[in-house]
Amino acid sequence: MNDNQSHYIPGLEGVVAAQTRLSHVDGEAGELVIAGFPLEEIAPRAAFEEMVYLLWSGELPTASQLEEFRFLLAENSRLPAAVLDVLRAAASTGVDSMEALRMTAGLLSLDLPSDSQGWAQDAALLARLPVMAATWWRLRSGLQPLEPPPGMGLASSYLYMLRGSEPHPAHVRALETYLNTVIDHGLNASTFTARVIISTGSDLVSALVGAIGALKGPLHGGAPGPALQMVFEIGDPDQAEAYLRKKLESGERLMGFGHRVYKVRDPRADVLAAAAETLYRQAGDMRLYELARAVERKALELLEEYKPGRRLQTNVEFYTALLLHGLEIPLELFTPTFTISRAAGWIAHCREQQRENRLIRPQSQYTGPRDRRWVPLEKRTESSGAS
Ligand code: COA
Repeated sequence: MNDNQSHYIPGLEGVVAAQTRLSHVDGEAGELVIAGFPLEEIAPRAAFEEMVYLLWSGELPTASQLEEFRFLLAENSRLPAAVLDVLRAAASTGVDSMEALRMTAGLLSLDLPSDSQGWAQDAALLARLPVMAATWWRLRSGLQPLEPPPGMGLASSYLYMLRGSEPHPAHVRALETYLNTVIDHGLNASTFTARVIISTGSDLVSALVGAIGALKGPLHGGAPGPALQMVFEIGDPDQAEAYLRKKLESGERLMGFGHRVYKVRDPRADVLAAAAETLYRQAGDMRLYELARAVERKALELLEEYKPGRRLQTNVEFYTALLLHGLEIPLELFTPTFTISRAAGWIAHCREQQRENRLIRPQSQYTGPRDRRWVPLEKRTESSGAS
């Protein structure tokens, strides 16, 4: 195809660039299917390891398969010493959580089971991420890092490593619902990044590092922190309108709203809102939950007023923020916690890509000048240099 024949689609919006059995996003119906299960059917029920197993194998595990899989994750969760050193340096120099994860994800190659040992390498990459995130946090907070306790599932052990005490089962359930909800989401930017990297014949660690880099941006996985900050800054439902108007009038985007694919309410927002409601009710303090609901209502009303017809709805990040805050997960760990879950999806996509690989290599449309002539250095001036 030459430049005239090719049709440029900014941001690849609507372009189908992969086939997948992993998840299906219907942006008009507001539906998300994960390996055949409607999100709302599976996310609040499955253990996170069951969900990962489902994505990696296509089927839910039996009890013995689940036990074996948990064992595989646990035995591969130890961090190489160099990762600890870099996390220590990152924490002491103020490197932020996602940069710390991205830097140390590359170091995982130092001590990784070979790619030919079944799921061992995949399991090692996944199981080490919560340890890395929790270690960075503890070091940043001046605390000694904790190792994952034996016999605990990934979600409980993550909470344990953050807090230093065994979490309440209701907290583990809420975190698993969150991790299950965001595990995979069609060809989102970070998953696309991972598939592009693996499609060149590169390795899983490279794909993980690239995907982490893509996820950390505020238009992708970096939104929940600012979304929660916004709710805190509003502080009182009566202040919501003035605050949100000011933001919209100055051209700012409201974090936690709008989506490239969903033109109706993001189904993940409903699952997380329900989990957040349960969590805050159990804690006996609904004030923040009620405030967030009020902010959401006002934001949707004003988005329709300022951006009519753009169909901007609540996305997953708004209730992610509320739920993770209710779990006492610090704001700095919101995107790393998302990473822990989405990494399972990235790995599944990489393996799928490898099975039926074709190098992902789209085209660009050239819009620069043509027929320029070489000007020797001594004759170049600022005006002639470009001619
Ligand atoms: N707040 C205010 N306006 C928004 C908006 C938001 N959150 N999201 C989109 N818009 C506006 C844009 O300014 C644009 O307005 P215009 O037509 O007057 O120029 C219009 O809606 C379309 O936006 P566009 O940038 O084309 O949408 P997109 O598909 O590229 O963007 C997001 C999708 C997610 C990047 C975008 O909605 C956004 O930035 N949301 C906030 C960040 C966020 O919550 N990210 C997490 C996503 S899960």
